[in-house]
Amino acid sequence: ALRYVGLDVGGTTMKAAVIDDEGIAAPAVSLPTEAHRGQEAGLERMCETIRAAVSAAGMTMDQITAIGVATPGIMDIAAGLIVDPPNLKPWKNVQVRGHIAEVFQKPTAFQNDANAAAFGEYWIGTGRDAHSMVLFTLGTGVGGGIIIGDQVIEGRHSHGGELGHMRIQLRGGRLCGCGRLGCLEAYASATAVVARAREEVATYTGSTKLKELLQSASGEEFSSRTIFDAAAHGDELAEKIVDDTAFYLAVGATNMMHSVDPDLILFGGGMIAAGESFLNRIRKHVHEIALPIPAERCEIRYASLGSDAGFIGAAACARQLIHRQRASS
Ligand code: BGC
Ligand code: NA
Ligand code: ZN
Repeated sequence: ALRYVGLDVGGTTMKAAVIDDEGIAAPAVSLPTEAHRGQEAGLERMCETIRAAVSAAGMTMDQITAIGVATPGIMDIAAGLIVDPPNLKPWKNVQVRGHIAEVFQKPTAFQNDANAAAFGEYWIGTGRDAHSMVLFTLGTGVGGGIIIGDQVIEGRHSHGGELGHMRIQLRGGRLCGCGRLGCLEAYASATAVVARAREEVATYTGSTKLKELLQSASGEEFSSRTIFDAAAHGDELAEKIVDDTAFYLAVGATNMMHSVDPDLILFGGGMIAAGESFLNRIRKHVHEIALPIPAERCEIRYASLGSDAGFIGAAACARQLIHRQRASS
C-alpha cells in the first residue's frame, strides 16, 4: 500500500499525519514550531513531527512511501529551499527538502503551504469536482493556491499563487509583512483586520462595542473573531470592517476570475468561522465588480478541510510525485 506523511510547517505549529493513497488520514499530530530557536532546531522539529505522525498511525518508517512538506513562502520550490518567509522569522535559506529526504531516505515533495492546501482541497475537499480552482487562505498571512487540471501553478520563480501579495491599492497603501505597500495580505489577513479595527476605533465618533472590547481584551484576545462576533450582533463599525474585508477579498477573487477564470474560488482559514453571511458579502461585491459571466458562473465557497488542508495537501504532493515517477518508469 502507498502511504505518505504530509507535514505542514506553520508560523506557530507544525502539523502532520500519515495519509494513504485514497486520502484516508491517520490521527494528526502537532508540535510548536518555535521558529525563534533557529533553523537547525526547526529542521529537527520537522523530523520529530514526521516521526510522531508515523507512530500516531501505529506504523514504522519503512511503511511510508514518500513525504510531503509544505512551508510558507518566500521559497524556491524547485530547489527545496525556504528563502525568506515573513511568517517564519528568522529563518533564511534553509534547505528543507534535501534535509528531510536525507534523514528519512524517502522521496520528498516540497510545496508552498497555500499551494498545498489548495491541492488538498482539490484532492479530497471542496475542490474535488473542480477542473480549475483558486484558494485563498486567511490566517496570519493571506496565502493563495491555483490548481489547473491536476497541476499546482508554481510559476517560474515559485511565486505562482502568491495571492496575498496581489496589489489591491494602486499606489501606497498599508504595509505588508513582505515589505511592500498595498498587498491584499495587508488588508485581509486576520492580523490586518485587527489592525484596521484598532485604527478605525481610534477615530470613530459613533458608539461601538469594539471600543470597550479593545480596552478590556489583551492583544491576543482581541482577534478578528471579536470583530466578526460584534458585527453579527449588529455593531455598525464592526459591520463596516467586516464588509470592507469582504470587499478586499472580492477584489482578489475578481482579479483571479479575470486572469484564470476557474470553476471555483475557495476561502479557507480561521476567518471562515464568520459563516455564510460573510461569504454572501464577498459574492455580492464580486457581482458589483467582476465581468458578468464569471461573476455568475464561478462558484465561491468555503474550503472544507480546515487547518488540515496543509498537511493533506503536502501528502497529495508526495502522492503526485510517486504516481508520476511510476507513470514514467
Ligand atoms: C506568504 C505565502 C503563504 C502565506 C500563508 C504569505 O505571507 O507569502 O507564501 O502561503 O503567507 O502562510
Ligand atoms: Na501560494
Ligand atoms: Zn506583501
